[in-house]
Amino acid sequence: MIEPETIAKVAELMVKARRAVVLTGAGVSAESGVPTFRGKDGFWRDEDVTQLATLKGFLADPKKVWEWYDWRRGQLKEVEPNPGHYALAEWEKTVVGRGGSYSLITQNIDGLHEHAGSKNILELHGNIWYARCLKGCTAELKYLPDTPLPEYPPPCPWCNSILRPHVVWFGEQLDPAITEESFTVSGAADLILVVGTSAQVYPAAGLPYVTSRAGGTVVEINLEPTELSYAADFALHGKSGEILPELMDKVKELGG
Ligand code: OAD
Repeated sequence: MIEPETIAKVAELMVKARRAVVLTGAGVSAESGVPTFRGKDGFWRDEDVTQLATLKGFLADPKKVWEWYDWRRGQLKEVEPNPGHYALAEWEKTVVGRGGSYSLITQNIDGLHEHAGSKNILELHGNIWYARCLKGCTAELKYLPDTPLPEYPPPCPWCNSILRPHVVWFGEQLDPAITEESFTVSGAADLILVVGTSAQVYPAAGLPYVTSRAGGTVVEINLEPTELSYAADFALHGKSGEILPELMDKVKELGG
């Protein structure tokens, strides 16, 4: 249970924010039933899974990797956004409605923020519902909403190569344009909410420090303390699916 005064203080900052940024990680989707990566039942505890999330693993057996991604997509298809996702989409509307800017930077690939109605989303680690040419014949992405897919690996619709999942694997670079925009908006932010991330994977983990160094306020929302908690102006510990709607209720009460 967060002190009502703390909720009121953070909500006031949310009402006043002109350049709002949110950084999310797997924890924001946990209450929707999507497993996180680290921790007790973390996804990356299964070594075979980490083998599948590499370009080397994909090149060795694209069919096997696609089958696995299709299995994951099948699981995610059943999943709905939770009240935390919806509260963030609502906050975006209020900020943009009063002429401010809002960017939601996510490390998640599940597409749940979009599903909940968020608009200005920067997906740092890609999106499991999209694929791209393995050879990079075009920058275009192919939307693949169906699961299971009719064939593995799916052929590239633009050349004679195959498609690969549009996700960042171990050892791969992030999209430079998305990364640059994430740093720019974080540096300009008057407020950043950091939600459900262990704040261990860079460059995402560095973004709140960029905001803080430029004079913006950092609010962390996480089930438990992280390394960032010590640097944050406010660290709210609890479920994001409960804290975010509580904050939004207060924002509305304050007329934001
Ligand atoms: P992690 O699994 O590292 O961390 C999830 C965080 O969410 C932890 O700090 C939990 O305490 C917190 N958490 C869990 N349930 C929560 C809840 N209901 N409300 C609030 N917080 C909750 O996931 P990420 O930080 O997202 O990268 O991991 C970052 C990246 O590491 C991932 O995007 C992935 C992984 O390797 C790639 O796949 C490229």
